[in-house]
Amino acid sequence: RDPEVVRLAVIPGDGIGPEVVAATVPTLRTALEAEGHRLDVASYDWGGERYLRQGAAMPADAAGLVKKADAVLFGAVGRPDVPEHELVWGLIIGLRQQLDLAVNLRPVRAFPGVPTKVRDTDGVDLVIVRENTEGEYVGAGGVAHAGSGHDLGIEVAVHSRRAIERAAHQAFALAGRRSGHLSLVTKSNAMRYGYPLWDRVVREVGEHYPAVRLETVLVDAMAARMIQAPRSLDVLLASNLFGDILSDLAAVLAGGMGMAPSANVLPGADVPGIYEPVHGSAPDIAGKGVANPVACMLSGAMLLDDLGHTGAARRVRDAVAATLRDVRHHTADLGGNATTAEVASAVLHTMESQG
Ligand code: NAI
Ligand code: MG
Repeated sequence: RDPEVVRLAVIPGDGIGPEVVAATVPTLRTALEAEGHRLDVASYDWGGERYLRQGAAMPADAAGLVKKADAVLFGAVGRPDVPEHELVWGLIIGLRQQLDLAVNLRPVRAFPGVPTKVRDTDGVDLVIVRENTEGEYVGAGGVAHAGSGHDLGIEVAVHSRRAIERAAHQAFALAGRRSGHLSLVTKSNAMRYGYPLWDRVVREVGEHYPAVRLETVLVDAMAARMIQAPRSLDVLLASNLFGDILSDLAAVLAGGMGMAPSANVLPGADVPGIYEPVHGSAPDIAGKGVANPVACMLSGAMLLDDLGHTGAARRVRDAVAATLRDVRHHTADLGGNATTAEVASAVLHTMESQG
């Protein structure tokens, strides 16, 4: 592997996915080149159109194909004329599982100049570390008495020590590099087996990280605190379900879904991470060229950071931050009227003028 070259697998997907990805790839390339590196892109046309054409959103050897890359940049999937599970399970969740990407990182940062629906979000800067493989989303269960009129839906939540430990190590290490403060989110007053196991295992893992202060917060209390006192939070560790819900809530603090990046990673292993905006394919605005590309660009910055290209990552983040200070560069979701392409060229411009 040539450390000078970043080999990127790109999966634009459906709806606004290709629009935000097209805005992001040139920013990553420009940032890397400014640091004397190169970007090598392999693009895969997986998603809804492929499903309609070939009956599957991605090929059977998809994981093998993307393993040739250093990292994956993913847009979004989902289209109204294809069943949800064929694309969400058939592509993005399937790929995360095939690569065993155990941890989902969702940073939320309020950029100066970006309006939010919550008052006083200045300085909000937190990261949600979400267990990415099991919990309520493990896919275990079934329907009994189907079609009888007394149908019974059974959805089994699964919490393993192994999965909790993997997420906990990542969260403690991250908290150690940041404020030294970690908030574990569970619901052990009402649920008696899975979440108490979380509490126990995370406390045990914490013994390896004496410099990190651990607090345990019930998920309902955390929902209120996230709005009332978001600056009291830094790194949050949560199960798959709680992390999913809390991260959409947290994104509101930063201006909404158009601002929320994420990374799916398997720390310490040699598999490519998948970096993607938290949002979906947004069929309501797709094709209009008005999607906010910032979530995707910030996902790209996380990707560069994880590959050790911290200088290039900083260039992307700084250029995004500078661009967002000017309301003329805000897309409709932020109350502005800039197009996706205008934001992209403003970010590139800023990067070039910063040299
Ligand atoms: P969504 O995130 O696509 O859209 C929710 C709302 O946020 C819409 O009003 C949309 O216009 C707005 N929005 C989202 N991203 C935006 C951006 N970058 N700029 C400006 N506005 C933005 O979620 P929704 O509507 O629930 O799902 C649409 C489709 O996306 C469904 O098929 C769903 O399954 C899929 N989906 C896929 C995901 C993925 O690929 N990882 C994640 C979430 C949903
Ligand atoms: Mg979600």
